[in-house]
Amino acid sequence: MDTDFFEYEGYKIPLNLVYLTGGGTSTWDAISKGHMWQYSKYAPIESDSTVLEIGCGTGRDAIQLTKHLTSKGAYIGVDIILESIEWCQKNISPTFPNFTFLHYDVKSQIHNSGGKIDTTDIILPIADKSVDRIILQSVFTHMFEMEITHYLKEFERVLKDEGRICTSFFIINEEVLEMAKTTAPTLESLELSFKVPYGKGCYINDAVYPEGAVGFTEEALERMMKSSKLMLDQPINFGSWCGRTDKTDGQDMVIFKKI
Ligand SMILES: C[S@@+](CC[C@H](N)C(=O)[O-])C[C@H]1O[C@@H](n2cnc3c(N)ncnc32)[C@H](O)[C@@H]1O
Repeated sequence: MDTDFFEYEGYKIPLNLVYLTGGGTSTWDAISKGHMWQYSKYAPIESDSTVLEIGCGTGRDAIQLTKHLTSKGAYIGVDIILESIEWCQKNISPTFPNFTFLHYDVKSQIHNSGGKIDTTDIILPIADKSVDRIILQSVFTHMFEMEITHYLKEFERVLKDEGRICTSFFIINEEVLEMAKTTAPTLESLELSFKVPYGKGCYINDAVYPEGAVGFTEEALERMMKSSKLMLDQPINFGSWCGRTDKTDGQDMVIFKKI
């Protein structure tokens, strides 16, 4: 038995890359199918859509989307972990040439400590108004306001007028902080209490690893939307991460559209 790989739907994914993508082998299938369910519910993807995914990791969503997008559609995955992008380029693109993967050597405390550039240096090599859906799962939950705003401005540029941006966040308020203190389940083995205020409308979970988990108030979210000319497409779909018992999403799902 080959114990260094996770075998999934005909792919052999190196275990270290599975863990860097988040969660482990036992949750991979449920998370990837859960993401597809969220897209179908909040911002359906057509078979001929052009999809941009930031923070694609080792193709957890890309593998599912290969079954959904036809050759008339296209997918572009972006990540800062070179090994993950190289794995996707070698294992997904040869069979699905409309699936392309881009690496940016962005410095990140937890995902790419040796990186040479900042997120704010990224100009996506994508034409204006050419993308139908932009997806980010557990990505803005590791970033700060300046980087998120930079990405949102880029998204506003590349998104078609009718396009949608489907993101997950940790939205923080007094009630959430109180709930998280006592009732929060663990998400990917992290205790999420967001005890540490970290600037205007921002909270982190662990002072030693600020990027480990980052949350924002709705005021901060409003500020980021305003400066990138985006608005909410629908009310925030709050998740169960802080102990809500009546929610099906894990993190809070925030769907943006152009103003
Ligand atoms: C928790 S993982 C989630 C992976 C994937 N979205 C999923 O849910 O399966 C976060 C991913 O975001 C990537 N990431 C972190 N900062 C990034 C940035 N500035 N730009 C693009 N990707 C980033 C990480 O390398 C990592 O693959």
